[in-house]
Amino acid sequence: MTFQSHLLEGRTALVTGGGTGICRGIALELARYGCDVAITSRSSEHLDPTAAEIRATGCRAVAVAADVRDPTAVQGVVAKTVEELGGLDILVNGAAGNFLCLAENLSPNGFGAVVDIDLKGTFHCAKAALPHLRRRRGVMLNISATLHYLGTPAQLHVASAKAGVDALTRVLAVEWGPYGIRVNGIAPGPIADTEGVRRLLDDAAKTRAEQTTPLQRLGLVKDVSDAALFLCSDAASYITGHTLVVDGGLWLTASRDAFAAPSDGAGG
Ligand code: HXC
Ligand code: NAP
Repeated sequence: MTFQSHLLEGRTALVTGGGTGICRGIALELARYGCDVAITSRSSEHLDPTAAEIRATGCRAVAVAADVRDPTAVQGVVAKTVEELGGLDILVNGAAGNFLCLAENLSPNGFGAVVDIDLKGTFHCAKAALPHLRRRRGVMLNISATLHYLGTPAQLHVASAKAGVDALTRVLAVEWGPYGIRVNGIAPGPIADTEGVRRLLDDAAKTRAEQTTPLQRLGLVKDVSDAALFLCSDAASYITGHTLVVDGGLWLTASRDAFAAPSDGAGG
């Protein structure tokens, strides 16, 4: 294990999108370090197997099906989490949607669906969790991306939503810092074996990403969940308003190819 095994003992977490992919990894990682975990997303078929895996670590698990676009349903998820687990220390906002579509072909509803899930869903969860996080001087972690750092084609909807998520991270860090609540984010690069990569990168694009990434590989779910564990733990107790990029250095290399010498890659 990367950290001491009792790192999160006695804590409770709610992870949205926690049944699958990166956020399933985060939910399981929190549990491995002693945290009771509630997970939510629309489909019980996604949630129930992960809840069973959380219980297998010896921690308590709650699975509540809900759509983060519905503020009333989100209130219900938070209430059920607090009722079953006794409080809320950590909120991880990971529920998201994505598809490739050029802006000129994107319908208002297509743009709106992603903004509603990623950005407004994060807002609804943050609002519902606030009184409980305040009581426990808790932590919020928003899963972002690096797509909006540059002009990523066919990603206007997601880039807009995640830029909003990063703004929300900074503003809430300032507003809720005096309540003892820390608000941070993680911006993963392409993470192998996830729905995000399946939707966005074909085999050729994956190979290109591996070759272009300074650390020469795609990310692993564990790369993100280790970063999440750090930011949710007391080891990060003076860090707030920060979105940590976990991408092996990939976004820094974009559009810099023109500077590399073709023969030896030494530049100039
Ligand atoms: C164009 C599309 C589309 C597509 C949907 N729409 N898919 N437009 N191209 N491929 C449009 C629809 O036509 C519709 O607009 C609107 O979006 C809403 O579609 P619905 O199917 O009704 O939405 P809904 O059932 O709410 O589903 C939301 C979803 C879906 C986002 C569209 O894909 C979903 O549930 N995704 C969850 C899983 C997921 O995406 N995981 C990846 C996360 S990865 P109209 O006008 O027709 O009504 C990520 C970052 C990855 O976020 C970064 C990697 C580097
Ligand atoms: P994923 O497995 O598809 O995760 C998305 C989750 O969101 C699913 O569990 C989905 O479950 C849930 N969800 C979607 N719409 C919802 C809604 N309306 N209400 C509640 N839950 C909803 O994809 P992933 O690739 O692991 O992505 C996880 C997070 O990492 C996302 O925030 C994504 O933007 C971010 N990210 C991923 C990558 C990558 O390489 N994969 C890179 C950068 C950022 P249901 O279908 O059951 O609702």
